[in-house]
Amino acid sequence: MTKRRLQFTRTALGQDRTAPRLVSILSGKGGVGKSVLTYNLADRLASAGKRVLMVDLDIGCGNLHILANTAGQFGVTHLVAGELSLAEAVTPVREHLDLLAANGRGWPAEMSASTGAAKLAHCLRSQVGVYDLVLVDHPSGKSEASIVLAAASDVNLLLVVPELTSIADACGLYKQLLRTDRSLDCRLLINRAETDGEAEYIHQKFGALTERFYGRPPGYLGRLLEDGALRQAVATQAPLAAADKETPTIADIDAIAAQLAPGNIRVRTSRLNHDEKAINNVPAEADIRE
Ligand SMILES: Nc1ncnc2c1ncn2[C@@H]1O[C@H](COP(=O)(O)OP(=O)(O)O)[C@@H](O)[C@H]1O
Ligand SMILES: [Mg+2]
Repeated sequence: MTKRRLQFTRTALGQDRTAPRLVSILSGKGGVGKSVLTYNLADRLASAGKRVLMVDLDIGCGNLHILANTAGQFGVTHLVAGELSLAEAVTPVREHLDLLAANGRGWPAEMSASTGAAKLAHCLRSQVGVYDLVLVDHPSGKSEASIVLAAASDVNLLLVVPELTSIADACGLYKQLLRTDRSLDCRLLINRAETDGEAEYIHQKFGALTERFYGRPPGYLGRLLEDGALRQAVATQAPLAAADKETPTIADIDAIAAQLAPGNIRVRTSRLNHDEKAINNVPAEADIRE
């Protein structure tokens, strides 16, 4: 175990292609598909032979364990409190796929959410050496825990659906991320678009708004269309690829997964300091009207 830890520390600091990538999945507004995407991305990556860890950061009401149809007895709190190691706290979901569940206990009583999140980021950095990718499913909005974890991540996927409220909240969250660290790698992902034209319209609008107000639009990861098969998959607690092999959404998820290959994501060489920095940078209220 000690040997593995030392090995990770060495590789994570460089641009080693084998260093685990830490990927955050966030949104301003709730119910836009973060958890469903996290689970299905993880499932497709695991099917492709990647070793994947999902982390449920939605501490109060996480539901990755429901989507993955597993108990998730231990989780984030046990790891952060120092009661269990990462290897002991994870729940195996299937070959190559583990879950660090939210398990409903909240952050340890003596810790604020941002301290808990910083501790979690530290534990992940030092113990995830056995995985290729870590996908962190965030709670909605600009919580302190979310900002701390985002600042420690190699890439942040910002989910929006084609609704004004979702776009406005995503702008507010993006602004907060830039305030925390302007060099963060953020990429927009549009979910539940009715057509490619609609997705492209949102992409252009979001790019123009963020360019005008913050001087820096996020990258673009692509889009997923509205697909009843995803709702069906959730209802049967199965990955999309098992619930409906024919749906084109599987290829769309694979295209997003391909963009998370090590060659497409730089390890943040400065990420060692970012969790502490973010704690001192308490999220302020921010939206596009300021
Ligand atoms: N592309 C999609 N097409 C159809 N339904 C979707 C799609 N993405 C998400 N959903 C539905 O939205 C619901 C909420 O998604 P969820 O991942 O729980 O949101 P969040 O984690 O952002 O709060 C899912 O249970 C699913 O039924
Ligand atoms: Mg969720």
